[in-house]
Amino acid sequence: MNKIIKQYMLNSEAVIQILLGDLIEERVDAIVNAANAYLQHGGGVAGAISLKGGPIIQAESDLWIEKYGPVNHGKPAYTSAGDLPCKYVIHAVGPVWGEGEEEPKLAEAISGSLVLAESLGLRSIAFPAISTGIFRFPLEKAANIILAEIGLYFHHPRGTSLEKVRMVLFDKTTVETFINNADSMFEDVDISSRFEQIK
Ligand code: APR
Repeated sequence: MNKIIKQYMLNSEAVIQILLGDLIEERVDAIVNAANAYLQHGGGVAGAISLKGGPIIQAESDLWIEKYGPVNHGKPAYTSAGDLPCKYVIHAVGPVWGEGEEEPKLAEAISGSLVLAESLGLRSIAFPAISTGIFRFPLEKAANIILAEIGLYFHHPRGTSLEKVRMVLFDKTTVETFINNADSMFEDVDISSRFEQIK
């Protein structure tokens, strides 16, 4: 079972939670896939999503590509979630480390996912550490960019529907790296406080 390790305020209405666990178990409105531009869900978290969600995820992804072409960093795609316990899968494309302009591309993948979730009227969203696996983006740098971008997004509230953002991280080193960065960016909330009870 996924475990909330720490949570922080993003603004007066939204929290960010850092979890150790498996993204495909999340019962949020949308999970974010760490996809490639052609939405070919082979390995990593994409493979796990495709496997557990069933063939509908790849089928809808193929239709998306047919209709709109390859996915840009800043404009993620979305599909239904098949057998996953969430409602939607947002397919965000992070940069491959070494391709150039990696930092703004990673930031765009994050803000693009938040904008899309908001346009779908969603209240909760869960991200993996996009680009830090097969795409080899250095973890420390990625954690800083991902969290800063989420912080920035909620710093200018635009009547967003989102109340809960989760980082669902697969291993302890990744959790520690995100927590070290989050500690210096956000106000910490006691896990046993009312914010956990309203979810
Ligand atoms: N839950 C949470 N995190 C996971 C899971 C999971 N089930 N599986 C893997 N991860 C973690 C990895 O440990 C890494 O920290 O997600 C992070 C992102 O890793 P990748 O899935 O490899 O994603 P990325 O680096 O963005 O590479 C994307 O990989 O699977 C292909 O189709 C995908 O081509 C694309 C590329």
